[in-house]
Amino acid sequence: MSQYHNDPASVIESDRAHVWHHLAQHKPFETIDPQIIVEGKGMRVWDITGKEHLDAVSGGVWTVNVGYGRTEIADAVRDQLVKMCYFAGAKGTIPGAEFAQRLIEKMPGLDRVYYANSGSEANEKAFKMVRQISHKHYGGKKHKILYRDRDYHGTTIACLSAGGQQERNAQYGPFAPGFVEVPHCLEYRADQPGEGYGERAAQAIEDVILREGPDTIGALCLEPITAGGGIIVPPQGYWERVQEICKKYDILLHIDEVVCGLGRTGTWFGYQQFGIKPDIVTMAKGVASGYAAISCCVTTNEVFEKFKDADDPLGYFRDISTFGGCTAGPVAALENMRIIEEENLCENSAAMGNRLHQNLLDLMNKHECIGEVRGMGLFQGAELVKSRETREPMDEKRVMAVVADCLKNGVIIGASNRSMPGFNNTLLFAPALIATADDIDQITDAVDQALTRVMA
Ligand SMILES: Cc1ncc(COP(=O)(O)O)c(C=O)c1O
Repeated sequence: MSQYHNDPASVIESDRAHVWHHLAQHKPFETIDPQIIVEGKGMRVWDITGKEHLDAVSGGVWTVNVGYGRTEIADAVRDQLVKMCYFAGAKGTIPGAEFAQRLIEKMPGLDRVYYANSGSEANEKAFKMVRQISHKHYGGKKHKILYRDRDYHGTTIACLSAGGQQERNAQYGPFAPGFVEVPHCLEYRADQPGEGYGERAAQAIEDVILREGPDTIGALCLEPITAGGGIIVPPQGYWERVQEICKKYDILLHIDEVVCGLGRTGTWFGYQQFGIKPDIVTMAKGVASGYAAISCCVTTNEVFEKFKDADDPLGYFRDISTFGGCTAGPVAALENMRIIEEENLCENSAAMGNRLHQNLLDLMNKHECIGEVRGMGLFQGAELVKSRETREPMDEKRVMAVVADCLKNGVIIGASNRSMPGFNNTLLFAPALIATADDIDQITDAVDQALTRVMA
């Protein structure tokens, strides 16, 4: 074991000196210590000072769906690594074949699994498939990819090109051409809310298609429920119309399940809440709950068949993800799926999600600053406002003060941050799918107290 493991001060100093943290401004680390997380069990994590936290965001970014400390996943990964750790994905592996089989059983209508190792990468694969289909079958014309305001699909330049969060994109352009934005579907922030809003929000997509020319659009890429963009559950009537529009104009529907997949919303996949029939589904985070890096780009057989042409030397999907051949991913994913099934975690996500939703609604009676509560299953958000009447968004600083207060008191929650200018005002909750009623109440109690202190 490394000498550093028993010496907290030197770990902190090494981190401070040499680790470039994700999504972090480092200036404060000149005077305060970076937080080092050292252990996790179930819903809880401990930092290097020994402080215990209840984790209401599954590892910060909604990943550890089955909770921490699952020895059965670790054992399966260890055994597999000793036997066969890696081979490039041009060939098959036993866990790769078995997980693909199990996954497809959960996704009627879909057929093929392409392995990669991050959500961004899975989305890149989907974009490349759409582009290649356009070249092969539409003379390169049907190459544009539509994405939605407030949605996020990853951190690479192509994914940011399909990114509807202006503050995430700022200073990283110029972006890739051929990505076109459609409006968001958050009724709370709509110009014309009320009766028929779902259909109108979908109609806005058709308007963009007609403006751009349907013969130039290859795919529409959407999150089933917008995650970091403010937990936006699409309104009634939206998905039916979106599906119709895609069919009408021969546009592939790519659903990004990186967050909502694997039970997060109470069903295996978020799109299954709405009866959507996607052509491409991407997933990452909860696929192996962070026990290994794995992502999947899953397609229908119809999409897959477009790449089968032995007479065209360039006609197959000429793409590789080196680490998409790591067997740790699918073997961890198999165990992860088994746990979700055996412990009925989709059902628990639905039931505990209802409790979390109701608790947050109850907090609205006490805290004027909660403008709206949104979500499905264990994926919930509370949008904070300065006034319910005007719906003026709460300042990001105060929203982050609520997050900081909860953290101080041992509960890790999240918030939309540096994403949409002026609208980083939604508290985010995505606890592991094993959460109990007590855990949920503890989370909302912490929020109650934080709101009382911060808004005083
Ligand atoms: C909806 C969605 N898609 C894609 C991604 C990118 O995933 P990754 O960070 O694994 O590249 C994220 C990350 O948060 C996400 O929320």
